[in-house]
Amino acid sequence: MSPWHDAATKEYYDTRAPEYDEWYLGLGRFAERERPGWDQAVRALEAAVASLAPARTLDVACGTGFLTRHLSGQVTGLDQSERMLAIAHDRLPEARFVQGDAIQLPFGDGAFDRVFTGHFYGHLEPGAREAFLAEAARVAPELVVVDSAVRPDHERVEWQERVLNDGSRFQVYKRYFDGDELAAELGGGTVLLASDWFVMVATGD
Ligand SMILES: C[S@@+](CC[C@H](N)C(=O)[O-])C[C@H]1O[C@@H](n2cnc3c(N)ncnc32)[C@H](O)[C@@H]1O
Repeated sequence: MSPWHDAATKEYYDTRAPEYDEWYLGLGRFAERERPGWDQAVRALEAAVASLAPARTLDVACGTGFLTRHLSGQVTGLDQSERMLAIAHDRLPEARFVQGDAIQLPFGDGAFDRVFTGHFYGHLEPGAREAFLAEAARVAPELVVVDSAVRPDHERVEWQERVLNDGSRFQVYKRYFDGDELAAELGGGTVLLASDWFVMVATGD
């Protein structure tokens, strides 16, 4: 187990797994949130993911598979959380799902055409960030990163307290991105989507 695969992160995502999609769908606690344009932005994000050319794709930190299901080609999802993976597997019985650590990917060099990752990169602190990018580059020539867009009500970098439906509380490191800045940070890339809520950047091929 690498230092990035810590018990608190695992507990947070295992606990959150059954309610994770409420964030996308505006249900539960998210029904009360004021999120102008959110539903349209989620649909545009789904369309942007669906527009990626078919490829042997590794979806790192795939979670419940909410975005994974829009990837075409031969898709493998990886996540550290078995409860997330169980939901993803029910959603996409045809895809392959693997439990593992994003920072030590259990795949050979060049095993994929593309690494895709949604709402994971922005949770990585310095150190883990570079380690993940090196791992992604080792297993695939292309990287597509989806993450949260800069918001007027958030700092670019925050430690947030997340409260789950059972009242449990977790501290989460979270960044918000400008598309061009994210592309520059990744070493150059193309901004495929920049909405009020999401950015999607492709690097490599
Ligand atoms: C915010 S969710 C994103 C889920 C999905 N990709 C999406 O865009 O909705 C972050 C996911 O990262 C996973 N995760 C966190 N640290 C990880 C690590 N070191 N290795 C693999 N997965 C990890 C969590 O279990 C969780 O499913």
